[in-house]
Amino acid sequence: MSLLKVARLGHPVLRKKTRRLDVEELQSPAIQKLIDDMVDTMRETDGVGLAAPQVHESLNLLVLEVEGNAGGRAAPPVPLMVLANVRLLKPSKEMELDWEGCLSIPGLRGQVSRHRSIEVEALDRSGKKVTFKATGFHARVVQHETDHLDGTLFLDRMDDLSSLTFLEEFDRFVTKRRSGQRS
Ligand code: NI
Repeated sequence: MSLLKVARLGHPVLRKKTRRLDVEELQSPAIQKLIDDMVDTMRETDGVGLAAPQVHESLNLLVLEVEGNAGGRAAPPVPLMVLANVRLLKPSKEMELDWEGCLSIPGLRGQVSRHRSIEVEALDRSGKKVTFKATGFHARVVQHETDHLDGTLFLDRMDDLSSLTFLEEFDRFVTKRRSGQRS
């Protein structure tokens, strides 16, 4: 396993729509190693999610994991999930505004409105179909990461840019407790 270099805002790979994986390719040693490396990279960088384009692979593949106290916020933990060929269904009408950061946009935080709950249909790392409902912070991370698969970044989702804040000012003027969430 190894740590992967994270693509930053401006790298064209972050703006490309990814391609889907067939089950055979998903099960291949190369993709299984990529998944392991993505998990390592996410954990090493204290991220709660990481999508393949962020490590320069234009594939419909993401990992996410929320520890009990992600970034100091009181979010229910989400065990490690590896999702490929992700489809989001039944987005709730109810929206929630909260802060987001992104490993590909280091040092910035902004408020983004997301569906409060969403249904997810995807393949797990073995190629098995999985469906589940995500709510709250889990739903937010899923939406943020799935956006990456379409070349969309959280900045594009901000209703306006007035909340955009550097991390240092975020810690100073917003709260220290929430500074760790990045995906
Ligand atoms: Ni991100």
